[in-house]
Amino acid sequence: CGIVGYIGSQAAAPLLLEGLTRLEHRGYDSAGIAVVGGSAGLKVAKRAGRVRDLADDLPKRFAGKLGIGHTRWATHGPASDRNAHPHTDAESRVAVVHNGILDNAATLRARLADDGVELASDTDTEVLAHLVARSPASTLEEKVAEALAQVEGTYGIAVVHADFPDRIVVARLGSPIVIGVGEKEMFVASDLAAIVRYTTTVVHLGDGELASVSATDLSTYLPDDRSGRLDRTSIATTEVEAADDGLDLAEGESHMHREMHEQPISAERMLRGRLDARFGTSHLGGLNLDARDLRAVKRVKILGCGSAYYVGQMGAQLIEELARVPADAEAASEFRYRNPIIEPDTLYVAVSQSGETIDTLLAVQEIQRKGGRVLGLVNVVGSAIARAVDGGVYLHAGPEVAVASTKALTSMFLGFALLALQLGRVRDLSIADGQRIVAGLEALPGQLKEALDLEPQLADVARRLAEAPSLFFVGRVRGYPVAREGAQKLKEISYRHAEAYQTSELKHGPLALISPAVPTVALVPDDELAERNVGALHEIAARGGPLVVVTHAGVDLGDLETSEAVDLTRIDVPRNEAELDPVLMTVPLQLLAYHASLHLGLDVDKPRNLAKSVTVE
Ligand code: G6P
Repeated sequence: CGIVGYIGSQAAAPLLLEGLTRLEHRGYDSAGIAVVGGSAGLKVAKRAGRVRDLADDLPKRFAGKLGIGHTRWATHGPASDRNAHPHTDAESRVAVVHNGILDNAATLRARLADDGVELASDTDTEVLAHLVARSPASTLEEKVAEALAQVEGTYGIAVVHADFPDRIVVARLGSPIVIGVGEKEMFVASDLAAIVRYTTTVVHLGDGELASVSATDLSTYLPDDRSGRLDRTSIATTEVEAADDGLDLAEGESHMHREMHEQPISAERMLRGRLDARFGTSHLGGLNLDARDLRAVKRVKILGCGSAYYVGQMGAQLIEELARVPADAEAASEFRYRNPIIEPDTLYVAVSQSGETIDTLLAVQEIQRKGGRVLGLVNVVGSAIARAVDGGVYLHAGPEVAVASTKALTSMFLGFALLALQLGRVRDLSIADGQRIVAGLEALPGQLKEALDLEPQLADVARRLAEAPSLFFVGRVRGYPVAREGAQKLKEISYRHAEAYQTSELKHGPLALISPAVPTVALVPDDELAERNVGALHEIAARGGPLVVVTHAGVDLGDLETSEAVDLTRIDVPRNEAELDPVLMTVPLQLLAYHASLHLGLDVDKPRNLAKSVTVE
């Protein structure tokens, strides 16, 4: 979910709506704003649907120079008008927007109901509005602190109150809040993206802090839960870059399409200044590790969610191949719940486009609590994970807006390649092999472009595959995480069921499902497993299963290609070094998912039920 707030001399509503549009990637099932001002005191407009629906519906008179807004990704309670934020107390004096989850909401709701309070929604957030309204404290800061002392869970909140028409109170615990300092105006948000177009002077609210924000002033506090006292904390402002937020699209263009086609450029940016052809290695300034530290690494553990997890699996293989250090990837969402063993000589790597995924952030904190060292592979500069880690590499992919990750994923892969080179070159990786990989990386941006040129062919294939109710994506070793990522993309944006499998495991079960109605997308790189892979394709063809083979020009598919009885489409991607091929193989799968979604008439950028960054557990 996304939070915005504004206080200053301009009309708040248009600025809030604009800010929400910039945060829609955080959730887009409902949206709402509350403004304070004029005779009505506090006014709220909210509804299920997109920000543009809210804007179309907004009453003419919605004046006020102070307000808050929210775009939601439903956790408690379905997406509906009543569950949309802001939430208010019974008299509509207090409005609250909230990211996170309050674990004791059910208890608090029951207690409020016993006290005769009528609850107007099914959300956990609503209790905060009532608790603030019922607080006997005299200032808004104290009222909010008192309310927060009663809740358990995580939150980033913004609160306005009709009786305090000169301030917004914000607070955070586990969910980010940033404050933008302008010229006699202030902005608050859960994400820099909502602020950077207005001001680049920002304050990152510390975890556990509460802030009082007026048009010209800002104070931060650490509430003491027991005494109820608010202790002043110091304020550190930072200057951030006013990046092009990538949000303005040409007519008919989608973010995903644009971001896919940016990959040759974003990949080049990721590699720029980081490759050392002479010594066959890489330079990564932000690792905070010298050669001795790198040599002491006994194991690498990669953590991420969704696509970041799958590319983590690709990265683990790269590290094992090039550096011969045992490496594996794990879903960050599971990691801390199995009481993982944290080892001082393991290098942990958290990988995240947004840098805000709470599951990944909590995994980082768990590792650090137990003395582990974590590096970040993060795209968004200054994001929560980027700030929490002990060192890392920024992806420089530029803003990624489409829910389905494309260019960020490619840059993540490159980040792993750079890291693998460094780890390898202080160990057994020869200079010749290092130089071979450096040359491969240098060739990659151009080859990504060639892979993207396959678009017309993939659009054709996608139109056919989009009709199938279910599909398999298969690959082996290097190809398996690619298959997982391909299946994930298709599920995310075309809502088609797709399952990824190791090609070698097909015969141990799923072959039972193969039929002319169930196509298989098979990854067959020109490597030591090519022949075995082709063997498995025969098993699929023999059951009448249609095949889409993503492969290299050198691979001989034999009579599979010539036989009339076999339904096979061949897609040849450019060939790089075998270790780097997986990233080139993800490109046709992006194009496939994209065109399937387009063909089915779906919202490519904002698929149902998902959000670009999930900041709740
Ligand atoms: C969400 C998105 C996925 C994404 C994952 C990790 O679930 O829907 O597309 O891969 O989060 O996001 P991150 O920002 O941490 O890379």
